[in-house]
Amino acid sequence: MSAPVVDAEYMAEIERAWRDLRALISSKNCAPIMLRLAWHDAGTYDAKTNTGGPNGSIRFRQEYSHSSNAGLKIAIDLLEPIKQKHPKITYADLYQLAGVVAVEVTGGPTIDFVPGRKDSSACPEEGRLPDATKGASHLREVFYRMGLSDKDIVALSGGHTLGRAHPERTGFDGPWTKEPLKFDNSYFVELLKGDSEGLLKLPTDKVLVEDPEFRQYVELYAKDEEAFFRDYAESHKKLSELGFTPPRSSFTCKSGNKQKSLLVQAAAGVAVAAAVVAWAYLCESNKKFI
Ligand code: HEM
Repeated sequence: MSAPVVDAEYMAEIERAWRDLRALISSKNCAPIMLRLAWHDAGTYDAKTNTGGPNGSIRFRQEYSHSSNAGLKIAIDLLEPIKQKHPKITYADLYQLAGVVAVEVTGGPTIDFVPGRKDSSACPEEGRLPDATKGASHLREVFYRMGLSDKDIVALSGGHTLGRAHPERTGFDGPWTKEPLKFDNSYFVELLKGDSEGLLKLPTDKVLVEDPEFRQYVELYAKDEEAFFRDYAESHKKLSELGFTPPRSSFTCKSGNKQKSLLVQAAAGVAVAAAVVAWAYLCESNKKFI
């Protein structure tokens, strides 16, 4: 499938979808599952073969029925009316935008969002996402395959500040933090405390404190929420753009803030005005010569 043309009309549609997503995610309290959907669409990326990644392929039964995606059909169905209302927007962009909005509405950092992702109908084989029962070497194998780093692994695992595990979906149970609808650094604070009554720690969460490379980031993020927000926003953007080369004159948006697109428009306006002045001047000077 071809890439969408990211023109002013596409950007306007993104802004409208952004508002609809904010309303949907706030009213349904579905930020956690939206973030998980965005991550599971993107996290299949394989840098060597340039396959998988944030391309909307998770919308197909072949992929959402993978065991690691249990429950995500709920998020796909919640987003379908927004897709129908804004048909120009690709599924790939819509799912990543939903992830950005999920973090935004729960109080997390602003994540730079650049539209223009292509949809794909090629579903990756099962087994590309991490297995929660495994250890540090497995986590590295999976995230390095995507081209991500140890810092990305720890920062992105902080996504578990939101939501909970559902026994009927994955066999795991419970939230990671006491306020699962608030995006903050409490996931790391809880990790360092060790086991606490009622809170979940997956084996892949526990390795973040056991592995010395990972642990340094856990300690940093537990004591410095700003550092976590900064690194999380950077890693999330990377995740959301795996295998995606933004269009060159790309518009970019931060939390519905049209700052950069307005800048582009303003620059275009200035260029047009300058051209008109120059043309008028030339006409004037030509007149003088005639
Ligand atoms: C590091 C490897 C990871 C593993 C093994 C893992 C595993 C899991 C599991 C087993 C669940 C429970 C799903 C359920 O029962 O409903 C879950 C939920 C969740 N995961 Fe992860 N995850 C990982 C990384 C991430 C990343 C990178 C993000 C986002 C940046 C993320 C965001 C979430 C969210 C928000 C939920 C809660 C979903 C809900 O409440 O419905 N996870 N994860």
